Formats: sequence, C-alpha cells, structure tokens
Amino acid sequence: MQVRRATKKDFEEMLEVQIASFRTLTDTYSPDQIAAWEKRATKKGGKRFEPYASLVCVEGGRIVAFATWGIKRDTGWLRCLYVLPRWMRKGIGSRLLKSAERTMLDAGVRRIRIKSAPSARPFYERHGYRYVEDGKSSAGFDVAIMKKAIPEG
Ligand SMILES: CC(C)(COP(=O)(O)OP(=O)(O)OC[C@H]1O[C@@H](n2cnc3c(N)ncnc32)[C@H](O)[C@@H]1OP(=O)(O)O)[C@@H](O)C(=O)NCCC(=O)NCCS
Repeated sequence: MQVRRATKKDFEEMLEVQIASFRTLTDTYSPDQIAAWEKRATKKGGKRFEPYASLVCVEGGRIVAFATWGIKRDTGWLRCLYVLPRWMRKGIGSRLLKSAERTMLDAGVRRIRIKSAPSARPFYERHGYRYVEDGKSSAGFDVAIMKKAIPEG
C-alpha cells in the first residue's frame, strides 16, 4: 500500500472511487440525492479535482482511496476523503487523513475544517475533530462542519 501525491492522470480513477464510496452513504442521503450528485459529478468528470491538492492510496496498481484539500490562509479545508467500499474499516482513511494533515501542516496550515458527511462524524471525532455546526456542502448536501487545530496529536 502506497500513499502518494495525485497527478492529473489519476483524476478519472479518483472519480470512480468517489462515486463507489458515495453510493454507500444511504443512511445519510436519499437514493435520489445520490443519483443526482453522481450525474453532476460524472458530467464534470475528473477535472473537478484540478483546483485541489490530493493524495491517493494505491494497492495492486489501483487507487483504493484518496483525499483532496484546499488552503485558505492558515486554514486547510479537507474537501474529499473517500475509500472504496471493500477497503473501508481497514485503517486506510485514517492513514490518508494523517498524511493529508502532515502535508497541510508542512504548508503552514494551523487548523483544518471539514464539511463531513454526518455519518463520517465519528471517524473525524476519533481523529480529534470537534463538531462546530450543521451546514451545507457546495452540492447542497447536509453536512456536519468539523474542526481541529493542529498540531494536536
Ligand atoms: C469515512 C471513511 C473515509 C473512513 O475511512 P476508513 O478507512 O473506512 O476508516 P478507518 O478504518 O481508518 O476507521 C478508523 C476508525 O474510525 C471510525 N469509523 C470509521 N468509519 C466509521 C463509520 N462509518 N461509522 C462510525 N465510525 C467510523 C471507527 O472508530 C474506526 O475504527 P474501527 O474500525 O476500529 O472501529 C470511509 O469509510 C469512507 O470513504 N466513507 C464513505 C465516504 C465518506 O463518508 N467520506 C467522508 C466524507 S467527508
């Protein structure tokens, strides 16, 4: 298992991972919401990731998870963290989150914010994030805004 920076060549495969992972969020979003999101994401394609920094996790030559983020002043906004369904709950999300945090810290970030799918809230809490408030994602989904000052462990 290798974690490395993503390149443009990875974007389409990252989108495939995101779609497969997003489809598991059925306890949070309705089938219609998921289908509508998927349609928009597919239309935009991999270039949706272009403005962001990203890391991918590669196993057997395939991307199995990825993270993307943007930095505004000293705040890092984690935009995506998605693991392929069959690779979930094996520590990959944790590993990627830690690598993304380290990379952001190296870039001068002092706090990280996340618009988390509500079902992922326990995952982020486990990593030291605190709930701030409910909000909406750029696609209009209900999210939990989470924050963490780093370094905090
Ligand atoms: C949320 C996600 C990124 C976590 O990655 P992961 O590799 O599956 O998580 P890890 O194996 O590193 O989990 C570490 C710990 O976080 C917690 N955790 C992870 N996923 C959880 C979930 N769905 N519900 C509750 N706790 C969870 C658990 O405490 C877990 O430890 P355990 O497996 O020993 O109980 C991944 O499941 C995913 O891609 N989910 C769908 C998309 C999503 O919600 N992304 C976040 C959008 S902002």
